[in-house]
Amino acid sequence: MSGEETIPLARPVLGEEEERAVVEVLRSGQLSLGPRLAEFEQAFAARVSAPHASAVSSGTAGLHLALRAVGVGEGDEVVTSPFSFVASANVVLYERARPVFADVDPVTLNLDPQAAAAVVTERTKTLLPVHIFGYPADMPAFERIAAERDLGIVEDACEALGAVHADGTAVGGRGHPAVFGFYANKQLTTGEGGMVTLGDGELKERIDSERNQGRAKDMGWLDHDRLGFNYRLSDISCALGIAQLERLDEMLAARGRVAGLYREALGGIEGLGLPCADSGGARRGWFVFVVQLPHGVDRDATIRALAAENIQSKPYLPAIHLMSFYRERFGHREGEFPVCEDIAARSVALPFFPEMSEGQVARVEEVLREAIGR
Ligand SMILES: Cc1ncc(COP(=O)(O)O)c(C=O)c1O
Repeated sequence: MSGEETIPLARPVLGEEEERAVVEVLRSGQLSLGPRLAEFEQAFAARVSAPHASAVSSGTAGLHLALRAVGVGEGDEVVTSPFSFVASANVVLYERARPVFADVDPVTLNLDPQAAAAVVTERTKTLLPVHIFGYPADMPAFERIAAERDLGIVEDACEALGAVHADGTAVGGRGHPAVFGFYANKQLTTGEGGMVTLGDGELKERIDSERNQGRAKDMGWLDHDRLGFNYRLSDISCALGIAQLERLDEMLAARGRVAGLYREALGGIEGLGLPCADSGGARRGWFVFVVQLPHGVDRDATIRALAAENIQSKPYLPAIHLMSFYRERFGHREGEFPVCEDIAARSVALPFFPEMSEGQVARVEEVLREAIGR
């Protein structure tokens, strides 16, 4: 083991403002369903120019409620990306619907609209594009397909806070439900948490009710007029979220700075795939720095070599359809989505967080070059 200090995969920026905000809620005695909930929702909605937002206990919970809100139910099909975090497919199964995968674009790594259109059937209810690694999916193309085939759209924006579409709209601000995640490695964190942004006030009411055991706005605690869940986000978390939102621009800029350092350091390495550059006015909301190792390089050995120098890294992301549960349940196998499978087999997430220093990036570069022999 190296004597060098560990470079973690991720590290949140938390300061006195967050401490003060959380302590204030603790002292108020109202830890949940208090004033911070609406305050966080409104501030977040304004941030992405969405008419409404509903705070929930996780990105997964938000995706689940968003799918229910657009009417996904038993026997329906939802077209989505196999190159995503497993939650975006799992939530479809929560409603006894079927996730139908299509291959991804080799440059953006997002669900390819043409491939998605090709797997739409009469059972398809909704498209579920994922803005993977914070790069905006081609929403105008998905919106055209949805309009032609009369489908709903739910966006998985869990990794994409701060991302902007080519036409200048913020990810999360196009009207259909978009879901953000606030786990500790995200651009903004509440420890655990999530937010659904949307344009339709009635859908917000449904989501707000279903996150709170199916209770309607005007009902007392023990009266419930529909099936619901406990997907609430506490006021403690909302206060943390409000404080994080206030420093979001600064944190996003810092992530952009680190990405620039990495691009400079790793750009010349032959065969190494880097995150695609922003194109045509689209802007990535920097979340992770994931590289694809050159073909033929042993990924496990590379990760071990980085770990030996106290540098954390992770094979990220594995293809969902090749996970044992999905293979067994749906009979998926290698070769179905070749672009996704090639990318997934070579991807490694490197340490990436706003306060990462030039020296730390240089250390990662040095050890990575050594490990892959370039
Ligand atoms: C693409 C994607 N979808 C869904 C989720 C689920 O979010 P959470 O972990 O907050 O439930 C995540 C987060 O990890 C994600 O990265």
